[in-house]
Parts: sequence; structure tokens; C-alpha cells
Amino acid sequence: MTTSDAGGKVLHWGVLGATSYIATHLMPAIAQTPGCELAAVASRPEHAYRAGEVAQAHGAVAHQDYGSLVDDPRIDVVYIALPNSEHISWTVRALEKGRHVLVEKPMAMGEDGCARIEEAARVASRTVMEAFMYRFHPQQRRAAELLASGAIGELRVVRACFAHGIESGSGNIRLEPSLGGGATWDVGCYAVDVPLLFFGREPERVSARFSRRPGTGVETSAVATMDFGDGRSAVIDYSIDYGPRAWYELQGTQGTITVRNAWAMADEDGEITVLTADGVHHETIPAANHYQLQVASFARAVREETTPLVTLADSRRTAREGAALVTSAAAGGVITLGAAATQAL
Ligand SMILES: NC(=O)c1ccc[n+]([C@@H]2O[C@H](COP(=O)([O-])OP(=O)(O)OC[C@H]3O[C@@H](n4cnc5c(N)ncnc54)[C@H](OP(=O)(O)O)[C@@H]3O)[C@@H](O)[C@H]2O)c1
Repeated sequence: MTTSDAGGKVLHWGVLGATSYIATHLMPAIAQTPGCELAAVASRPEHAYRAGEVAQAHGAVAHQDYGSLVDDPRIDVVYIALPNSEHISWTVRALEKGRHVLVEKPMAMGEDGCARIEEAARVASRTVMEAFMYRFHPQQRRAAELLASGAIGELRVVRACFAHGIESGSGNIRLEPSLGGGATWDVGCYAVDVPLLFFGREPERVSARFSRRPGTGVETSAVATMDFGDGRSAVIDYSIDYGPRAWYELQGTQGTITVRNAWAMADEDGEITVLTADGVHHETIPAANHYQLQVASFARAVREETTPLVTLADSRRTAREGAALVTSAAAGGVITLGAAATQAL
């Protein structure tokens, strides 16, 4: 057995899907994390060359189908970077083979899928986490500290927005209904997660309106409201039609905290502004690689057999609210939900 500086055995990671995003962000993050090693990459048989190229560039082994990677007994952790429609089945299969799993967001497009994964993880005694990388960036913790310190009084309104543009005809999985495309499960899940995180509970009611770019078959933009009761609400919008914007704002009784670059990339500083009657205060949060912080945190949870930062309960709630937005937009009305408490930062 190989041991690591991080304490305990080296975790060998295998990646399903040789995507360029994964090769750019996730594989270097694994390589930079003490005690983690990128061991294998798999593509579908018809794209075996992709896994070959990426594996060679990262000194890993290439598998010519996903099943053989999941079956490979040398793999400890499977990272699932497949289209949204494939997340549940491959996560369950990897857990059943005794692997720990870090699965790209959304874990599932509805609560039932999360429940299936939770059960498979319980039976296999393995750790699974949804890759909500932004939660690992120090600026989210700093925003939570400012809120908890009373800097803006009591939280009343959360506004969150995540938009980026996807070109029609690009073959992008986000425009393909059968692969789980659509703005809700691509970037909307992030915007939904922000108010759940900062209010620390689920909304009582949600309402959404979707727009659809002609010819795509998926919702490409959305505006939604969430009612958390007692005068607390969220207003979110998200899109795969618009120019880039990723931001959130916490409006309190005494002021506002704005996180300008909420899903910051590894080489970009974060920026938080606190506005109160006393004036404006700016804080720069030094650049941090949230992909690497996520890998390190997940590896620690696996080794120490502790609950990961993004819990299965978190994933269930985000999936439940995302599905409620879809239902609301289809029905053209307000959806009432149970208001179970969630754990705040
Ligand atoms: N956390 C983040 O920052 C972030 C950023 C981007 C994406 N994501 C998530 O990562 C996942 C993949 O997104 P992506 O942008 O990387 O997608 P992508 O570039 O289209 O890659 C998806 C990969 O899935 C595999 N695949 C399996 N069945 C497929 C099918 N029927 N059609 C197309 N590809 C198929 C392909 O790998 P092979 O050809 O090698 O088999 C392909 O490279 C999504 O769940 C997305 O939400 C997360």
C-alpha cells in the first residue's frame, strides 16, 4: 500500500468522461492535492482516443469504457464528469463497486435520484458528494462570517444570479433535453443553492418563469422567487442565453453584502462589498483554487470517514427546489413545499 504525506493511503482517482473542462481544472486539482493521484481516465468506446490523449498528458491509464474503470480495483475515488442524465446510474454503479464518488452538479435532477444515491452509499459504506466547488472558496465563508457578525443586521432577501452564453448548433450537452440539458440544472442549481445556504432552511413556496430559446427544447433563461416565510425571500435568475454574470447579494435590515465574483476561477481574486448607513467597505479575498480545495476536502472526508462539506441532505434540498422551479414554470403557478430546516454554513 502506498502512503501519503496527508496521512493514510494514497487515494487513486479515476475520471469518467475526458472533457476539456475536467482536464483543465479537475485533473490538475487532483495532481496538486497531497495524498491524491490521478490514476485513470475513461471515455466511451467510440471516443477512446479522448481518454488516451488526456491520460497520456496526465500520466494516467486510459480505459476504453466507463465500466472497466469503475470495475478497476486500483481505483478508490470515481469522479463523474458526464452529462447530467448519466449522473445517477454511474454514481450508483461506482458506489456498488466500493468506490467513493465525487459527482458533478447536479447530483440528480430531482430528489428521488438523490435518495437512490444516498441508499447506495449507505449500503456500500462509501462517501459521495456533489461537486459544488464554489462552496469551498474562502469568500463564501467570509460572507457567512460577516452575516453572522451582524454586519448587515438580519438577513431578509438573497439575490443570486448565474448566467453564461451557450451557442446554438454547438452540440453542447446543455442544449440537449435527453442529456439533462437546460439552464436550471446547469447554472440554476448554483443560484438555488445560495439562498438555501445563507437562510439555512428551505423555502415554503417557490415560483418560476422560464424562457426557451427557439429550437433548443430546453429552458435557457429563468427568473424565480422563493418565499422563506417571516418576510424572508430570494430572487434568483439564471441563463445559458446571456453574457457572463455570477454574483450574489445578501440584503439585511442594516445593509447589504455583495459577493461580486461568486463562482470565481482559480486565478481571480474574490471581492466582497458591505454597504451600510455608515458607508461602503470593500474586501479582497485572495485568489483560491476552489477545485483543489474541494478535492482536498473530499479526500479528507473519505480518509477520516466524516461527512463531506456538501452533504447528501444539501444535495437533496437543491434537487427538490430545482424540480419545484421546473414544476412551477410548467404549471404557471406557485409551488408550496415543506419548510424543513437545513444546516447553515
Ligand atoms: N463544476 C464546474 O465548474 C463545472 C463546469 C463545467 C461542467 N460541469 C458539469 O460537468 C458535467 C459535464 O459537463 P461538461 O461541460 O464537461 O460537458 P462536455 O464537455 O460535453 O463533456 C461531457 C463528457 O461526457 C461524456 N459523455 C457521455 N455520454 C455522452 C453523450 N451522450 N453526449 C456527450 N457526451 C457524453 C463525454 O466523454 P467521453 O467522450 O470521453 O466519453 C464528454 O466528454 C456536467 O454535469 C456539468 O454540469 C461542472
